[in-house]
Amino acid sequence: KDVKGKTAFITGGASGIGLGIAKAFYNAGSNLVLADIREDHLKSAEAFFNDPDRVLCLKLDVTDRAAYAAAAKQAEDKFGKIHMLFNNAGMGVGGPLKNLGFDDWDWGLGVMIGGVINGIQIVLPYIQKHGEGGHIVNTSSKAALVPVTAFSIYGTAKAAMVGLSESIRGELAPDNIGVSVFCPGPVQSNIAETGKIRPDKYKKDTGLAEAEEQLAQRPVSDLWMSAEECGERVLKGVQNNDLYILTHAEFKKGAEEHFNAILKSFPDEPINEERAKAISFLLRN
Ligand code: NAI
Repeated sequence: KDVKGKTAFITGGASGIGLGIAKAFYNAGSNLVLADIREDHLKSAEAFFNDPDRVLCLKLDVTDRAAYAAAAKQAEDKFGKIHMLFNNAGMGVGGPLKNLGFDDWDWGLGVMIGGVINGIQIVLPYIQKHGEGGHIVNTSSKAALVPVTAFSIYGTAKAAMVGLSESIRGELAPDNIGVSVFCPGPVQSNIAETGKIRPDKYKKDTGLAEAEEQLAQRPVSDLWMSAEECGERVLKGVQNNDLYILTHAEFKKGAEEHFNAILKSFPDEPINEERAKAISFLLRN
């Protein structure tokens, strides 16, 4: 799949992984729409590319449907067409259940699931209408394949990206729109600044204030993958139309254990052939 001259709409595109994806696609010749809630990130991304003809930076909260619709329209007005959507905006919201309040769930799932659904509902029609095909990448996490204990909001949201992506991939294939789910391991980014972007309306029923302050102090290891390398992997994944885009071989064993545990949980009983026929439409994707 050629991405040259195509337009990529990237949420959370002004920092970390989103910015890494932006750089890879920019270098491959794509136009960029970087939609992000943080103005400081947008300013630095704008300065970095310094190419207003090919890069449009928009302030957007992906949970705001009206603003999202306006941003998509603005993107199409500028570039004529939108071909790719990267549902990437997210944050490190989570902690042990005893610390979680409704505000944490609402914020976490609102952005990391709700924001993605908004992207699908709002941007996908723009991708479909020109008939040239395109691609959607949903940023999940290694946490969806090798679950992390005591990080349930994040785990729930990221597992949802797998279900969503698997489910729409076949549906969009006839339109020549690929779908990938991106499940990176630890990447150098600004995700530790999660507390900084928590909206005021989600600051009452939460037990995560302290955890978010501590997270802000967490150093980023040089051994974590660079956002640029991540972006290159995503570019390849889109070019190959891979369903799964993965980054760290270190997690393969954990994923194997996870999936083996699922397989082992199937009832060890003979297949009921008659029932198999009746449910055959559900047996494979
Ligand atoms: P980051 O903090 O560097 O970048 C995320 C960007 O999303 C920020 O600029 C932030 O302002 C923006 N954002 C947050 N909420 C938003 C909203 N409501 N509307 C619009 N923009 C919003 O963090 P990072 O690490 O690059 O995260 C990107 C994605 O990658 C997230 O979905 C995260 O969960 C996922 N991820 C990150 C990993 C890591 O190790 N950094 C590993 C696996 C997944």
